[in-house]
Amino acid sequence: MADPREIVLGVSGGIAAYKACEVLRRLREAGNHVQVVATRSALEFIGAATFEALSGRPVLSGVFENVPEVEHVALGRRADLVVLVPATADLLARAAQGRADDLLTSTLLTARCPVLAVPAMHTEMWEHPATVDNVATLRRRGTVVLEPASGRLTGADTGPGRLPEPAEIAEFARLLLEWGSTQGTTGEPFPLPRDLEGRRVVVSAGGTAEPLDPVRTLGNRSSGRQGYALARVAAQRGAEVTLVAGTIADLEPPAAVAIRRVQTTREMRDAVLDAAKAADVVVMAAAVSDFRPASMSAGKIKKGEEAPSIPLEFNPDILRELVTEDVPRRLVVGFAAETGDDHGSVLEYARAKLERKGCDLLVVNAVGAGKAFEVEDNEGWLLGADGSSQPLPMGSKAALAARVWDAVAERLR
Ligand code: CTP
Repeated sequence: MADPREIVLGVSGGIAAYKACEVLRRLREAGNHVQVVATRSALEFIGAATFEALSGRPVLSGVFENVPEVEHVALGRRADLVVLVPATADLLARAAQGRADDLLTSTLLTARCPVLAVPAMHTEMWEHPATVDNVATLRRRGTVVLEPASGRLTGADTGPGRLPEPAEIAEFARLLLEWGSTQGTTGEPFPLPRDLEGRRVVVSAGGTAEPLDPVRTLGNRSSGRQGYALARVAAQRGAEVTLVAGTIADLEPPAAVAIRRVQTTREMRDAVLDAAKAADVVVMAAAVSDFRPASMSAGKIKKGEEAPSIPLEFNPDILRELVTEDVPRRLVVGFAAETGDDHGSVLEYARAKLERKGCDLLVVNAVGAGKAFEVEDNEGWLLGADGSSQPLPMGSKAALAARVWDAVAERLR
């Protein structure tokens, strides 16, 4: 197991501060050390005891606490990552100005590690030109400022400004830590640049299921996690994302992503082709069922003396339709879960599939026991129609997604 990483969790004073407790729990469960630095108003919302019990450390707040340790310098130097949950409009403003009027803003000035700011505020505050400018300033300096989710805010209002779900925040924290650990040695780009701004992307995720009768389905197994990670990362790189989700595990909806739920392959095809009309990129991460029962039984198929045989027919191949449709400059990315055998390696089969399918990029996963399906981490290769081939090292599904978007963004340029 890797050494624990040191995270500063900065909490500012907004009602979403209660969700910082859940983020803290997740960061700790992932094996990190977490130091909570709360603003005075954050402690009006959540008592220090809650943070202290969850982090196992005293909460720090003022610059006059623990003066001999010169806490703000020590905290900033020690941190591998700073996460701001929630980042209120006031905290974003103070950070953009480079203020040092409390321990949290002072720590931001001394930290040289990645900073992940997770805003939460009313829509009017998020959309105010002052906040828009502050966010732009922070992003220009390398702070990752997440797009908030849309939905119910405190009170009856809805709109962008909601804190993304704690699981999503923890996923991005892990992504930044993964990158932080390789940055410098390989000169890899930052995982969340805003290089997809103005781009429309469609991502399919999960499996499809074809009804046999009112209670049974024939389908493909897929948690949808890789497709969700692709949608999440694209949205935070600035893209307008439509996620077409089939049958999936219990996943939180990604922030700032439009979701269309489907069940069968034909429903997925209609949703993908419709959204693809205006898209620059389509990523088919879904595990699409190639066959469907030739007919659906109106009543439940009864268990007779013999097991029934069920005639099947072909489903449409969505990826093929996407590449044969005459749309100039649209990039199509396919996925392939492959196994090698006596006749060829995983990569040989994948290269042949790329040619057969005619897509621009193919993400290849070697499948087998414990790999790719229904697990947290993923590895593989990224093959290009131009003959390129790049290994995708073992890491989180968000990290794999970031590498796929790197390749896509490079081709869009
Ligand atoms: N795919 C699709 N429509 C289908 C089947 C697959 O769009 N009916 C897409 C998947 O989303 C994936 C890619 O095609 O991006 C490859 O999927 P895979 O199941 O490996 O492809 P198949 O054509 O079914 O390949 P095989 O011949 O190995 O079964």
